[in-house]
Amino acid sequence: MNTCKCGVLLSDEFKICRVCDDFNSLDKIICGDSSIILDRVKEESIDLVVTSPPYNFGMEYDEHNDKQDWDDYKEKLFLILRGCAFALKPSGRMAINIQPAFSQFIPIHHEITTMLRQFGLLWRAEILWDKQNYNCKTTAWGSWQSPSNPYVRYTHEFIEVFSKGDMKKEGDKEKIDIKGEDFSKWTLGKWEIPPETNMKEFGHPAMFPEEIPRRLIQLYSYVGDIVLDPFCGVGTTCVVAKKFKRRYLGIEKSEKYCETARKRLDGRLFW
Ligand SMILES: C[S@@+](CC[C@H](N)C(=O)[O-])C[C@H]1O[C@@H](n2cnc3c(N)ncnc32)[C@H](O)[C@@H]1O
Repeated sequence: MNTCKCGVLLSDEFKICRVCDDFNSLDKIICGDSSIILDRVKEESIDLVVTSPPYNFGMEYDEHNDKQDWDDYKEKLFLILRGCAFALKPSGRMAINIQPAFSQFIPIHHEITTMLRQFGLLWRAEILWDKQNYNCKTTAWGSWQSPSNPYVRYTHEFIEVFSKGDMKKEGDKEKIDIKGEDFSKWTLGKWEIPPETNMKEFGHPAMFPEEIPRRLIQLYSYVGDIVLDPFCGVGTTCVVAKKFKRRYLGIEKSEKYCETARKRLDGRLFW
């Protein structure tokens, strides 16, 4: 247990002080578990969610256990995505970057889609992020040169995109900032983008490159819209939202990653 500056006790799980912290003020990184914090974010207040949950592949995160029983993993993930669905405004969008557990044959991208459709969200797109042979280095064949149990190895990830209630999101024409050539390129369902190369410098093992949230933000939101990332890591979505004049809210359970995100947002850290 820690104590806040105002004297309130903070539990290990819930590091935010209910007295000092206003969950609905914007342009900040909140440190805590999204399944708890999202309960306090105002319903129908967010225009766009851009996020990449942990994949449960055994990554070495600062706080998060990335090797959970799949049922526990899904229960938590679905709780958080449901919280995001509540937080979205009508006609708001949600874009989730995910890779299925190919060697364990778990199609988590399909399961997320099924679940969000059950919550009433509309599935609007599946973007294939071609990482340009990044994963081909692996020799996890399953069975080598034999049909007994071959694995398909992925050089890509998915981005599943949803809308709440209405596919069309009205907005001020003057608040559109996507160029025509980018629009025609980014509305093609395959994005060729190399992975982030500075993860070591930022101290995080599973970042996406800025180009991913940049395209999602410019394609699916207007200048001034509010962007939420409930698995914000070292803040890539929030940094891009700020660069492109959106408001943002990032939630991350590691204090260390939150601090790195805040430094990036203040311009104290960049590569
Ligand atoms: C794949 S990483 C996201 C990285 C991010 N896109 C970036 O570029 O920095 C997933 C993050 O979710 C965080 N996380 C896991 N469970 C969480 C939870 N329940 N609440 C908040 N953050 C969580 C992990 O600590 C990890 O930093």
